[in-house]
Formats: sequence, structure tokens, C-alpha cells
Amino acid sequence: MPYKNIKVENKDGIAVVTLSRPKALNALNVETLGELVAVFEDLADDVEVGGVILTGEGEKAFVAGADITEMIEMDVREAHDFSALGQETLSMIESIGKPVIAAVNGFALGGGLEIAMCCDIILASEKARFGQPEVKLGVLPGFGGTQRLVRRVGAHLAKEIIFSGQQFDAQRALAIGLVNAVHPPEQLMDAAIKMMKTIMANGPVAIELAKSAINNGADLTLDSGVIIERDAFAQCFATEDQKEGMKAFIEKRNPKFRGE
Ligand code: CAA
Repeated sequence: MPYKNIKVENKDGIAVVTLSRPKALNALNVETLGELVAVFEDLADDVEVGGVILTGEGEKAFVAGADITEMIEMDVREAHDFSALGQETLSMIESIGKPVIAAVNGFALGGGLEIAMCCDIILASEKARFGQPEVKLGVLPGFGGTQRLVRRVGAHLAKEIIFSGQQFDAQRALAIGLVNAVHPPEQLMDAAIKMMKTIMANGPVAIELAKSAINNGADLTLDSGVIIERDAFAQCFATEDQKEGMKAFIEKRNPKFRGE
């Protein structure tokens, strides 16, 4: 299905999803959030897709935040609904049973950093700029930023980033553990594809279960988290992939996983 603000391309089983509103630096409006839900629902069910790379159109921005021209007219109720829509969209992306890599090619501000943080892995261009500048607009992050940033970098750094509203570069993002790696701009997409191919060579069911164990266990006590892990580990033994993976090891060959 063609979308107005999003491009989707399948590259050897990897869906490259490009947020494309270049005139607004790919800012997230209601229409784009709706399209994101539709795109990710399709990709979650698409057997031809093993993983997703999310990026922004152009050289300047990944996503420059939620759309300020839309928010400026909102009343309290509309703001509440907008925040809920953004939060639910990002939670849906976070929970799909396939790996998702954010390739942050430029500004990732406000909702832009928030959508990057709902991805499993964040790779950044050397030119990327990060920040939660909402307080400069008299508001606070509304797409999960106050919750996901603290889980990624700790409360002290999350407070500094959110209270100051200041931008910071990719090297600082790497130093504080916000992103996984930094690449020259022209190598960013190749690096994302290479990482996704490495992931996709492994057992898809195991990756889906590992993702769900990590996501669902993150907010629990260790004792509760390891029970989730135990159940997920056991479920693997109902799959052909587990039999094939272990057999291939014994036979000293590469496994041929079928995701079942
Ligand atoms: N919403 C709507 N339009 C945006 C936008 C946004 N978040 N960010 C940029 N644009 C538009 C600009 O208005 C401008 O449009 P015009 O050409 O029609 O004037 C165009 O994109 C290019 O932007 P600039 O001219 O500002 O480009 P610049 O290079 O001078 O600055 C920038 C780039 C630093 C990213 C700057 O655009 C900026 O600060 N953008 C806003 C960033 C921001 O505050 N994001 C947080 C939004 S609030 C939020 O996200 C809340 C939430 O959690 C739900």
C-alpha cells in the first residue's frame, strides 16, 4: 500500500522504512503516526521480512520531533490523545517480533529521539544530533521520552538532557550508551544492513523470544525476569530451528533456519 509520509523498500528480506516529510524535517504528525502503525503491522506479518531498518529522508534529519504546527492548536484533551497515539505507536514498533534498527542520519530531537529509543538498536551517523528540546517549547517529552531515556542512560543523565533541552552529538550519545555505534554518514545504511544480516543469519524464533524476554523482563525484579527467560528458553525446544541449530553445530556446518 502506498503511504504519503513513509517509504518502504525490501532489500533482501530487510524492510527499510524511511520517514519522509523532508519539508518538516520528517516531523511526526497524526497522519504519519497512523501510517507507521499500518506499516509496522504489515511488516510484523510479512514472512518475506526478517528485520526492519528505520531511517529519515534526506541528509539533515532523522526526525525533528513531533509536528509543532499541529501541536500549537491543541487543547488539553487533544494533547492527551496525541501523546497516547504517539506512545501507543512507539510501543507497537517496540514490540514487533522482529529486530528493528534505527539508522539515525541527522537530527533526532524530541519525538525523533523517542522513536529511535523504541528500536532495538540505534546506529548513528557522525552528523546525528540528539536531544529532548520539548521544555524549550514549554512542554515535556510526550512519546515516552521521560520513561525510555531514563531506562537507557539513568535518571541523572535523562534529567540533564530533558531539563536542559540541549542538543548533543553522536559521540556523546555513544559515550552515555544511548546509541550502539557511530558511523560516517555515507556508511550508515551499509552498517545497518550488515548488522541486520548478521542478526538474520540466526534463529528468528530465538531472536523474537529473546526480544520479548528482554523487553518484558526489563521492568521486573531479576527473579521474575528469569522466569520469563526460562519459559522462552523452553519454547525454543518446540522449534525446528533449535533442532537444526544444534545439529548443524555437531555436524560442523552452518545452520539453515526456517523460523519454525
Ligand atoms: N515540527 C514541524 N515542523 C518542523 C519541526 C517540527 N518538529 N522541526 C522542523 N520543522 C520545519 C521548520 O519549521 C522549517 O519549516 P519551514 O521551512 O516551512 O520554515 C523546516 O522544518 C526546516 O527547519 P529549520 O528551518 O528550523 O531548520 P534549521 O536547520 O534551522 O534547524 C532544527 C533544524 C534544529 C531541527 C530545528 O528545525 C528545530 O529546532 N526543530 C524543532 C525541534 C523540536 O523542538 N523538536 C521537539 C518537538 S516537540 C515533541 O517532539 C514533543 C513530543 O515528545 C511528543
